[in-house]
Amino acid sequence: MKKKSLTVLLVALTGLLFLAVGVLVAADVPDQITIQNTGYKKDKKGPVHFSHKKHHADYKVACTECHHNYENGKNVWKEGDPVKPCKQCHNPLKKQGKVPKLQNSYHKNCKSCHKALAKAGKKTGPFKKCNQCHQKKKKS
Ligand code: HEC
Ligand code: HEC
Ligand code: HEC
Ligand code: HEC
Repeated sequence: MKKKSLTVLLVALTGLLFLAVGVLVAADVPDQITIQNTGYKKDKKGPVHFSHKKHHADYKVACTECHHNYENGKNVWKEGDPVKPCKQCHNPLKKQGKVPKLQNSYHKNCKSCHKALAKAGKKTGPFKKCNQCHQKKKKS
């Protein structure tokens, strides 16, 4: 009997631990992200410093504008779901069916929104000048 309740306690504790980890992960929306992938044919441009939290909190951009997980052509990703790096699905070397290659996945996402907002006469981010997103590349 004692052994059994110990097992129950252990199972409950393990469950709590997982729950806590899950909540921590979900709450961990990074402030600032430096986007700098490897695997491109050529790494021509410097890294991009991206104001992740500001985009959501101040510019009111929904998470689902940028994060997705397609099932039958529909984005089923919702807040709290795990976030995979874009590179996990977007290949840096080639387009795969409807899935744009990595560089274009960022450019389409970031620049298209900025451009559309500019067209609508709204405050927006850069889409013409490369170095308003890309940092100077260090000579190596
Ligand atoms: C709105 C921001 C933004 C603007 C403006 C922008 N880019 Fe990018 N670009 C990105 C992001 C984000 C990546 C992904 C960076 C990475 O994966 O290292 C990227 C990746 C790239 C890459 C592939 C990675 C590399 O370093 O070779 C190239 C090439 C590139 N951009 C060229 C350009 C050029 C040329 C311009 C100007 C005509 C430009 N970009 C303007 C955001 C931008
Ligand atoms: C304007 C676009 C955009 C918006 C809006 C946005 N994100 Fe992101 N998020 C990104 C990009 C880009 C990355 C980096 C992906 C990569 O490195 O490939 C990222 C990364 C993440 C990561 C992973 C960070 C890491 O260190 O691995 C989490 C978690 C995340 N976002 C959660 C969210 C949540 C939750 C929201 C809404 C509250 C949100 N994001 C809104 C673009 C966005
Ligand atoms: C779990 C896999 C997965 C991840 C992670 C992912 N994508 Fe995608 N993405 C896809 C698939 C699949 C498609 C093709 C969707 C369709 O059927 O049209 C796509 C399409 C796109 C498109 C073209 C369609 C559109 O919405 O305009 C862009 C741009 C894009 N992704 C950007 C991104 C960016 C930026 C990130 C990281 C913040 C990212 N993706 C992360 C799977 C993914
Ligand atoms: C759905 C719309 C949307 C998407 C997607 C988006 N942005 Fe923005 N971005 C904005 C808006 C709106 C502003 C500025 C509004 C303002 O100044 O009030 C902005 C501003 C910026 C700025 C200048 C101000 C700052 O906070 O640094 C940069 C740089 C920038 N974005 C980079 C990016 C990058 C890189 C991506 C892709 C990973 C991206 N944006 C995706 C809407 C978007």
